[in-house]
Amino acid sequence: MPLEIKKVGVIGAGQMGNGIAHVCALAGFDVVLSDQDPDRVRSGLATINGNMAKQVSKGTVSEDDRQGALKRIATATAVDELADCDLVIESATEREEVKKKIFAGVCQVLRPDALLASNTSSISITRLGASTDRPERFIGIHFMNPVPLMELVELVRGIATDDDTFESAKVFVTKLHKTYAVAEDFPAFIVNRILLPMINEAIYTLYEGVGSVDAIDRAMKLGANHPMGPLQLADFIGLDTCLAIMQVLHEGLADSKYRPCPLLVKYVEAGWLGRKTQRGFYDYRGEKPVPTR
Ligand SMILES: NC(=O)c1ccc[n+]([C@@H]2O[C@H](COP(=O)([O-])OP(=O)(O)OC[C@H]3O[C@@H](n4cnc5c(N)ncnc54)[C@H](O)[C@@H]3O)[C@@H](O)[C@H]2O)c1
Repeated sequence: MPLEIKKVGVIGAGQMGNGIAHVCALAGFDVVLSDQDPDRVRSGLATINGNMAKQVSKGTVSEDDRQGALKRIATATAVDELADCDLVIESATEREEVKKKIFAGVCQVLRPDALLASNTSSISITRLGASTDRPERFIGIHFMNPVPLMELVELVRGIATDDDTFESAKVFVTKLHKTYAVAEDFPAFIVNRILLPMINEAIYTLYEGVGSVDAIDRAMKLGANHPMGPLQLADFIGLDTCLAIMQVLHEGLADSKYRPCPLLVKYVEAGWLGRKTQRGFYDYRGEKPVPTR
């Protein structure tokens, strides 16, 4: 029987984790938002509060619903507090060893029938699931950024994911008023398999001097009708996450066409990770974003 999900734990309160907690709480689930860093929990909750206030001012969410949703979100800095969750969604940094360590800890406290999911952008669900005590109840639930606004969720079954888990995940995503696309478990799934090589190519275009940051983004917005330029999008995703996804594609598919651009590596090494650190291909510290090259 598919498990009925009532309480959802989210591990990682960064830009994706707080968005996932936001939509789960608005959909009526009890939520525990957790992070190893108490500051990230606090700022995650503040972001949810602010984003819900925007939804109220736009008229897409009522004030009562906002109040109700905020009351349903508890916060935590230790996995013990996720013990009674029916579903835990890991949304921590895109590094396999970080995720595996989190799963080792959380599996010790979860009920045996509880479901475990990863919001990974690229890492093998089969491999992550195999590192847990419940590969049959492990699944990829890949949200898009920003979570409250983006309709799509990719559902990714590992080789061992059972039918009940898959059905529970479908029902869960539907209750969030989102639409799912099923992706097979290959590096970066569907959206990022297509999107990230395009972003990486935009960075090569900058690296080789074909165009400036401004020219590349303007060209793709006005010439290809993209809602935001690829470098702006890279900053929005986070350059560390972009690099991690390219590395998974490069290693997983063993094809040189996925080689991460050295300029992307350099930005990450500088700690210029995009919007989340105030600097990436643009500098966000002033009134409006200024290209950094
Ligand atoms: N950024 C995007 O556009 C996007 C889109 C879809 C999926 N994702 C995926 O979502 C996940 C999170 O990405 P993000 O953009 O929110 O990153 P982020 O850097 O904003 O947040 C990551 C959070 O994980 C926390 N964390 C790290 N190690 C932890 C641990 N051991 N225990 C608990 N918390 C820990 C960090 O403190 C941080 O708050 C990644 O797997 C990423 O690939 C990102």
